[in-house]
Amino acid sequence: MLAIPPLSLYIHIPWCVRKCPYCDFNSHRADGAPPESSYVNALLADLERELPAVAGRTVETIFIGGGTPSLFGADAIGALLAGVRARVEVAEEAEITLEANPGTAESGKFRGFREAGVNRLSIGVQSFEPEPLRRLGRIHGREEALRAADLAREAGFDNFNLDLMFGLPEQSPDQALEDLQTAIGLGPTHLSFYQLTLEPNTLFHKYPPPLPEDDAIWAMQREGQARLAEHGYCQYEVSAYGQEGFRCRHNLNYWRFGDYLGLGAGAHGKVTDPKTGTITRTWKIKHPQHYLDAAGQPERQGGRKKVERDELPFEFLMNALRLREGFAEALFFERTGLPVEILEPKLSACLDEGWLERRNGFLRCTETGYNFLDNVLQRFLR
Ligand SMILES: C[S@@+](CC[C@H](N)C(=O)[O-])C[C@H]1O[C@@H](n2cnc3c(N)ncnc32)[C@H](O)[C@@H]1O
Ligand code: SF4
Repeated sequence: MLAIPPLSLYIHIPWCVRKCPYCDFNSHRADGAPPESSYVNALLADLERELPAVAGRTVETIFIGGGTPSLFGADAIGALLAGVRARVEVAEEAEITLEANPGTAESGKFRGFREAGVNRLSIGVQSFEPEPLRRLGRIHGREEALRAADLAREAGFDNFNLDLMFGLPEQSPDQALEDLQTAIGLGPTHLSFYQLTLEPNTLFHKYPPPLPEDDAIWAMQREGQARLAEHGYCQYEVSAYGQEGFRCRHNLNYWRFGDYLGLGAGAHGKVTDPKTGTITRTWKIKHPQHYLDAAGQPERQGGRKKVERDELPFEFLMNALRLREGFAEALFFERTGLPVEILEPKLSACLDEGWLERRNGFLRCTETGYNFLDNVLQRFLR
């Protein structure tokens, strides 16, 4: 029997000042001001259609991601969150995150986000060095990156994340560590430290920049982890590091195979129905204008599909094995409705070969398994 998992809300804002050459997110250059109020209305109509599937449940976390949600004014974000609260119960202690680009950081705006109920900012810094920032096509420079963290704190965000990338074109391990040290010096509660990847359908994929050698990237990752640990940032997921008590609750719910409604252009959702014992995945039309045009016509706005029983184990593992702590064996049953033995004989093989380990009722990757996570997951593909 499936248990009812915690419920989150993901809200996608699909516009950016311009498109970064490495980015494959559903983000579109805004020609002029984005249509804030019609988009907020479309998001709320989208929410209303999703609500019957989660009747009586409370939203534990909200993540307003992008694109660049900080392009929107505080009034629009205020109207959005008020509209959400008017339609669904939001926990008093809910974590409410908004992604911000340092190039769109303003003190009045950040204060307005805080007043609207946002209690966590995630700031896309990527690097503090002028040359890498230029090559990444970022709209901000070093000073703006430094200032964004100060503005966040001044606006009352004592809980904020900085996104940094490493393995940047021609970056040396020392330069990556220098960026990390600068970020740590700003005192965020959380740091996301992503290796730059060349994603299909991006400019960087078509015209690859000169990336550092594998050994150098490996050194950045290893020494970065050590530096973060020295300063109290504990790695709990492949790219996520948090101070004690500041792991991202929203992302943890994804990785623990919790439920989430996905609102907005291109947003994905996952909802469990314990009565029928089914899990459904939902998605919304990707292009912002098409999404807006289809508002009010659910059949045009997206799709939904039941996750088949034999797809569940891999889907669960793909998320849960990203966590350093792995997962409680009991959670596997609660979230998939299947006994953990269904993973046999592959599970025993991975335990025997030293990819996975079992400890205190938890299954998780060993150090080696974690470094070759894709290979471990491959083993569980049908
Ligand atoms: C949706 S963006 C964050 C907010 C905002 N749009 C920004 O860029 O400032 C999420 C994060 O994913 C990371 N990211 C995006 N594309 C990436 C790539 N190709 N490789 C590694 N990390 C990437 C960046 O650190 C980025 O801040
Ligand atoms: S600002 Fe963020 S979401 Fe927008 S294109 Fe750049 S990386 Fe992608």
